[in-house]
Amino acid sequence: MSLRDFLEKLKSEGKLKEIKKPLSPVLEVSAIVGNEPSIFTNVNGSKVVMNILASRELLAEALGVRQEKIIEHLSSCPPEGEIKLVRDSPMKEVIEKPDLYKLPILTHFEGDGAPYITAGVVVSEYDGMMNASIHRLRVIGKDRLAARLVEFRHTYNLHKKASEKGEPLPIAIVIGIDPVTLFAISTRVPEGKEYNYAAAIKGEPLEVIELENGIKVPHAEIVLEGYIHPTELVDEGPFVDISGTYDLVRKQPVIYITKIMHKRDPIYHALLPAGSEHNILMGIPYEPLIFNEVKKVADARNVVMTPGGCYYFHAAVQIHKTNDDEPKKAIDATFAAHKSLKHVVIVDDDIDIFNPNDIEFAIATRVKGDEDIYIYPDVRGSTLDPRSENGIGTKVGIDATMDLSMRWKFERAKRPEIRGL
Ligand SMILES: Cc1cc2nc3c(=O)[nH]c(=O)nc-3n(C[C@H](O)[C@H](O)[C@H](O)COP(=O)(O)O)c2cc1C
Repeated sequence: MSLRDFLEKLKSEGKLKEIKKPLSPVLEVSAIVGNEPSIFTNVNGSKVVMNILASRELLAEALGVRQEKIIEHLSSCPPEGEIKLVRDSPMKEVIEKPDLYKLPILTHFEGDGAPYITAGVVVSEYDGMMNASIHRLRVIGKDRLAARLVEFRHTYNLHKKASEKGEPLPIAIVIGIDPVTLFAISTRVPEGKEYNYAAAIKGEPLEVIELENGIKVPHAEIVLEGYIHPTELVDEGPFVDISGTYDLVRKQPVIYITKIMHKRDPIYHALLPAGSEHNILMGIPYEPLIFNEVKKVADARNVVMTPGGCYYFHAAVQIHKTNDDEPKKAIDATFAAHKSLKHVVIVDDDIDIFNPNDIEFAIATRVKGDEDIYIYPDVRGSTLDPRSENGIGTKVGIDATMDLSMRWKFERAKRPEIRGL
């Protein structure tokens, strides 16, 4: 199902809001966008779509599974699906010299100071190894972008390898790919396996086309072809990221765009930083990764990246405890699966982890602060945590499970069920 197929589906179900009012990409779209899937048909004359994956319900619809089965589906798909190389794609309908200012790239917040591509997948390849991941991309010229490459992630590693040899890293940026592939690419999988994982969770081969610079990309609305300069760095930021606060301005690599290709009348996909779709794409991919890691040490029942934790810094993990050692092991497994996580709470399987009040109930009644809270100072977390020193901070794991030897003290009493009253 392409992006357009998915939009048609949402439209036919009455779930796609259409905004025809002429709008500027500078602050106006971000001022009015809500939480529902929306297509803006006249942003400086172009189409912009937002919020296609703005909820678990929409993600379930794109994956073709029931909402409560998402984690089961995602955690049971090894990244081994088939990739199919095809010769042509409608994204080649129009081929142009680069002029990024012709695209409806949004400026989201007043302090941003520049437009940012937010749903652009950067595909790179070096020395036979490929990577595909989303990076925020600041427009700094009609053919230049500043890319935020977080240290030790795979695009960063490939760029480092190329730059050590003084070579540019060939890349392509795809915008407007199908929602399931976009979700797969947002998941941290073993190096080079993003397309295989996309095919696995789609349940069909992923078609890719090879560009002139050798990069293989899936069908998209818009493709920018180019390279990351081996040494040039510029200021990247300010930018509001997942926390809804301004991230630091840092020196980051420069991307040169050499060619732009797109469908006729392309649909540009944008994410509102810290908005619902950003949340879903940044957070939910970690749930199956945590689930599989915790399963190695305990009977994991469910994992939720919680809304109050920006879908990124907090996880609640539900286990069926059979031994009092398991929660601590589950805490360590959770932090191993999601390195950017800051706080995790482990709860029993009578706690509804989708309900923040239920989680708080577990903390209130099953935690003894000096015994059940594990503190890990000076460890690598997320550079997006405003309380960290460029990613180095403190993690906390909370064991909010019952003491197995005294279940009677912790179990909630059930109200009587008396028939005929
Ligand atoms: C919406 C969104 C925006 C992201 N922005 C960035 C970014 O600016 N820089 C970055 O390094 N990672 C960013 N990420 C994270 C990576 O894309 C993601 O963790 C990816 O799976 C990294 O995997 P990799 O190490 O295989 O490249 C973003 C992810 C999402 C979903």
